[in-house]
Amino acid sequence: MMDNIFLIGFMGAGKSTIAQELQSRLDMKLVEMDARIVQEQEMSINEIFSRFGENYFRDVECQLVQDIGQEGNTIVSCGGGVVLRKDNIINMKKSGKIVFLAATPQTIYDRVKDSRERPILNGHMNVAYISELMEKRRALYEAAADIRIDVDDKNVADICEEIVEKANL
Ligand code: S3P
Repeated sequence: MMDNIFLIGFMGAGKSTIAQELQSRLDMKLVEMDARIVQEQEMSINEIFSRFGENYFRDVECQLVQDIGQEGNTIVSCGGGVVLRKDNIINMKKSGKIVFLAATPQTIYDRVKDSRERPILNGHMNVAYISELMEKRRALYEAAADIRIDVDDKNVADICEEIVEKANL
């Protein structure tokens, strides 16, 4: 199966929103990775991080990417840190295309500033920290991506159209 679409990018880039909109336009299934993890683990993302640590979360995430690879015809809204494990990138590439939604730190901050469900940003909710973390991850997102979409100043419909066009959906 080579027909999955994986949306990657920083927290708040719009992966979940875009995935839902794409799913409603195309005859594809939808997987929201974090929601699936919360459901399977019967704990919030915050709780998983605080009780078992980030590494445990990454293990669960890694297993899920592997499982999704067995399915097809699915739009996957990935967690922002999915690119941190090389195996995830290998497995995503095996089963589909990777679309990177790129946004500036200010856009990200504006969208996530009131979020309490992002343990990575707890206690660091400011543009400088987001910028720093984004710089650390940028090369990973870019190297993984088959398609890159700059999302600042674009609406959901425009972004979806760009994806449909560039990914030949
Ligand atoms: C994370 C992003 C989150 C979630 C977890 C870790 C990250 O997903 O998987 O809190 O390391 O960037 P979203 O990108 O959907 O917020």
